[in-house]
Amino acid sequence: MTGQVALVTGGARGIGRAISTRLARRGMKVGVGYSSDPTSAENLQAEFPDLITIHQGNIGERGDCERVFDEVVRAHGRVDVLVNNAGITADKMVAKMEVDDWDRVVQVNLSGTFYMAQLAYLQMAERGSGRIVNISSVIGEAGNAGQVNYAATKSGLFGMTMSMAQEGARKGVTVNCVAPGYIETDMVAAVPEKAIEKIVSGIPMKRLGQPDEVARVVEFLADPESEYITGQVYSVNGGLHM
Ligand code: CAA
Repeated sequence: MTGQVALVTGGARGIGRAISTRLARRGMKVGVGYSSDPTSAENLQAEFPDLITIHQGNIGERGDCERVFDEVVRAHGRVDVLVNNAGITADKMVAKMEVDDWDRVVQVNLSGTFYMAQLAYLQMAERGSGRIVNISSVIGEAGNAGQVNYAATKSGLFGMTMSMAQEGARKGVTVNCVAPGYIETDMVAAVPEKAIEKIVSGIPMKRLGQPDEVARVVEFLADPESEYITGQVYSVNGGLHM
């Protein structure tokens, strides 16, 4: 993987940071996308000044996706691996969910992932090789009270992944999903303490996952040697959903 180029959206914090770090440790050049926290992005870049560049943008905006993609190509020459990791939550019970909570989450998690995937797919298909890894969630596999919007987007990624995988199969482009369970990140830290206790008690391994436990699966799928794996979902959830 040395010398190859990755673009990781939401790559400066949480699971995305662990992914960016793993890929950089493998010698990859990594364009790290971030939306709102330049300090985390700058700190990560400082750890790998020769390998990591940082790029601000909102993947929910098509224009930002085009600009970020172009910046990474200009910095590193091409994109061999796209990791669609950026995502948001706006949890509310369905009875209380506002149209704006629905629209925001769909725009970022589903449309934003498509925008980035399409940009990457176009140049990967032309070159005849590429890896796209979409980060879904156990919530997309099993649903969750209070997350009708998030669950719909994360299930949607399965359909997007299988469809793109079928199109990419003859062009050397693999498209896969990783579905993390509850991982120790800011997103999970924002869940009320009581809800987390209930969640952990339902996880067979009785603990949250670590970001790096997800990142190692992404690293595996991003490897050029993983070329016969496409259209799949890899779940990393401590047994929460089987
Ligand atoms: N199933 C069915 N009903 C439930 C329920 C459940 N799991 N949980 C709560 N309810 C019911 C409650 O009993 C309550 O009913 P009554 O009004 O009849 O008493 C009603 O739903 C309202 O519950 P809350 O008091 O919790 O409602 P709220 O409006 O205060 O909060 C919420 C709603 C914001 C969604 C809150 O419940 C919450 O934060 N839940 C956790 C959501 C969650 O798990 N998010 C995961 C984020 S991490 C992530 O998404 C990453 C990933 O990929 C895993």
